[in-house]
Amino acid sequence: MIEPNKIITGDCIKVLSKPQKTQADLIFADPPFNIGFKYDVYEDRKAYDDYYAWTEKWMAACAGALKDNGSMWIAIGDEYAAEIRVIGRKLGLNLRNWVIWHYTFGQAAQTKFARSHAHLFYWTKTTDHKAITFNDMDVRIPSARQTTYGDARANPKGKLPDDVWSFSRVCGTFHERVKWHPCQMPEKVLERIIKVSSNPGDLVMDPFSGSGTTCAVAAQLERNYFGIDLSKNYVKHSTQRIADTLAGNRRGTEISENPELSRPQRKVGGSGQSKKAKKLRKQTAK
Ligand SMILES: C[S@@+](CC[C@H](N)C(=O)[O-])C[C@H]1O[C@@H](n2cnc3c(N)ncnc32)[C@H](O)[C@@H]1O
Repeated sequence: MIEPNKIITGDCIKVLSKPQKTQADLIFADPPFNIGFKYDVYEDRKAYDDYYAWTEKWMAACAGALKDNGSMWIAIGDEYAAEIRVIGRKLGLNLRNWVIWHYTFGQAAQTKFARSHAHLFYWTKTTDHKAITFNDMDVRIPSARQTTYGDARANPKGKLPDDVWSFSRVCGTFHERVKWHPCQMPEKVLERIIKVSSNPGDLVMDPFSGSGTTCAVAAQLERNYFGIDLSKNYVKHSTQRIADTLAGNRRGTEISENPELSRPQRKVGGSGQSKKAKKLRKQTAK
């Protein structure tokens, strides 16, 4: 059962398939990508058909738990982006944007180009854009006409961001990073999504809440939240993360859309760095 302002331990398909009194205004789902990440209770390497069938189930359960004028965002990697797009179509969802999140701090690669993006699908149930929440004024950014070209025709209210977003991943050197979850969404990505697709007092739901990023940002933005995760341990820690966030006991994020400004405040090159990496840094500094 959906319970506002809680993160519960459970299987989101089981929880959301039950009849609900309350439905969500906004769902953000960041499922395991089936790429072998190490979670504490979930095995992130299923056979293709099993993962596909599972994805169909959780997406259907989420669509059922979403209000008719609600919005659903889904994060996924290249491996299953096409499948998610097709399942959304089969469920009758209306794709509003297929956003590329370009993470400005990526993996290194030796035999092909390094991957530095993930996909963020933005769906609604209705095609009536007047019925949905889209708070454009809350997410506008300065336009290049304002910042670069000194063009007097620039809209003083700025512009809506493009559908390619550049935010760093949550690197180990950032204060935002929790130590007990392997893959954490940046708060900045959630801030934009929650601001544009919900209003204060709305219910924001995350069926794979993990480290609790969605719920923590929703709480800060005065939305109600509801999270589900299979892991008792993640639920315990993420519930504490929200309490600490609301009490002002966590530092704000260092991440900004400008990679140059997304500098960690922690010292780089501390104990987390391998000898090989230290040697390389010394050599390149010469
Ligand atoms: C990619 S992580 C989510 C990360 C999250 N967005 C964050 O910022 O921390 C996926 C999470 O889904 C959880 N999970 C896997 N299967 C689940 C299920 N059937 N129901 C609920 N949670 C599940 C895992 O334990 C893991 O924490």
